[in-house]
Amino acid sequence: MLEKIPKSFIDELVLKTNIVDIVSSKIQIIKRGKNFYAICPFHNEKTPSFSISLEKQFYYCFGCNVHGNVIDFLMNYEKMSFLESIKELSMLNGMKIPTKNIKYKKQCEKIYYEKKKLHNILYKLSKKYINNIYEKKNVQVRKYLEKRGVRKDIIEKFSIGYSNNIKIITDKYAKQNKTLVNLLIKAGILYLNKNNTIYNRFVNRIMFPIKNSKGEINGFGARILTKSFPKYLNSPETKIFKKKENLYGINEVYKYNKLIKKLLIVEGYFDVITLFQNKIKYAVSILGTSININIIKKLFKISNTIIYCYDGDKAGKNASWKTLEISLPYIEDNKILKFIFLPKGEDPDSIIRKEGYKNFKIRIKNATPMSEFLFKKLLKKNDLSSPEKKTTFSRLAINMIQKIPGKIIKFFLRKKLIKKLGITKHDQRCLLIPKKYIYKKKKK
Ligand code: UTP
Ligand code: MN
Repeated sequence: MLEKIPKSFIDELVLKTNIVDIVSSKIQIIKRGKNFYAICPFHNEKTPSFSISLEKQFYYCFGCNVHGNVIDFLMNYEKMSFLESIKELSMLNGMKIPTKNIKYKKQCEKIYYEKKKLHNILYKLSKKYINNIYEKKNVQVRKYLEKRGVRKDIIEKFSIGYSNNIKIITDKYAKQNKTLVNLLIKAGILYLNKNNTIYNRFVNRIMFPIKNSKGEINGFGARILTKSFPKYLNSPETKIFKKKENLYGINEVYKYNKLIKKLLIVEGYFDVITLFQNKIKYAVSILGTSININIIKKLFKISNTIIYCYDGDKAGKNASWKTLEISLPYIEDNKILKFIFLPKGEDPDSIIRKEGYKNFKIRIKNATPMSEFLFKKLLKKNDLSSPEKKTTFSRLAINMIQKIPGKIIKFFLRKKLIKKLGITKHDQRCLLIPKKYIYKKKKK
């Protein structure tokens, strides 16, 4: 079995996994400079000499010299066999372990190189977009960013750029640069319309590179400078860009945080960069898509505390509730879920500009915990003024609480529910809550 797993698959697996995510899900790590450090789990020590490199995807202990990649880590730390660690990582990445050798091996290799090529071309393109900002003729871009108050160092840190004004790729150019044009089509930059004309997707737009946690560019978000439609364009789905999976700002979060104690989830690109500019360096945005289970799982792997801060409008409120509902099955006892509700008409970008870092920090500190939001929302519809309303409320609340896997948080939510309903006696409690959750009767 061992030999049958193609090396290319293992390489791809290691490449797809972020060692920092894996290690930090098991031990506490802090960021120092480029690398992450931890108290070495393989020898006794008081100060951290166990280093994890995001760039090299490698760990090394300066104290006891242990080292290796993510597979070695799982084998040594979790005492897994080689095969078990491959299985674990495959599962985490949703990849199937190939059993039939050659065909799969070739396929994996092909995918690996194709992705690498796409990342490379987007990186080069991004450099070009960055240079465009400083071109003399593009003064309106610099003015726009200035008007929105984006500082120069932030433009640089987030590699913000500007696409040029080329709308159509001429046949002549396409013929002379076939490989490049094909690659740019695959990367989602150029596209072919029905009449076989090749168009540039992003024309005269501010370009926000959407990077993965390692810093590779998967796609772009692009804003128009004027009030025209559509305001934003995103890369289409490609081999490396999945709108529902990518998180704008995640690379910067890893880069600038020692330990990701909490993660703030916002809606827009500008929200992420304005928060960053105002010292909130742990925000990411879900790219204009609605929240989904995969993202929720991903977020909880990055940090134990997730705070959602949607726009202060009706859609934002609904999104918060939907987020709560679909997050329930992932709330273990060490996970905390909170919500910030912004005043009407505000988004994180606008509010932090108005009220500044200190006041926004208070909003974070006072964020509404999941438990409070859950009861408030259910009680709004059912005011407990009649047995029917009490019943509906109980039914809805119990249904939701049951979905939570964390035993302790579940216990306290049930207690809160009982208190809200004004039930005090033990036997009455038994009526409402399945017995097995209260006490275990001894079988005779
Ligand atoms: P918003 O319209 O709330 O964006 O859309 P924003 O960040 O406040 O925009 P600014 O401040 O006017 O620049 C939130 C997100 O929804 C997606 C984008 O990802 C955007 O950041 N979106 C929005 C689109 O994909 N297309 C659109 O036309 C608009
Ligand atoms: Mn905005």
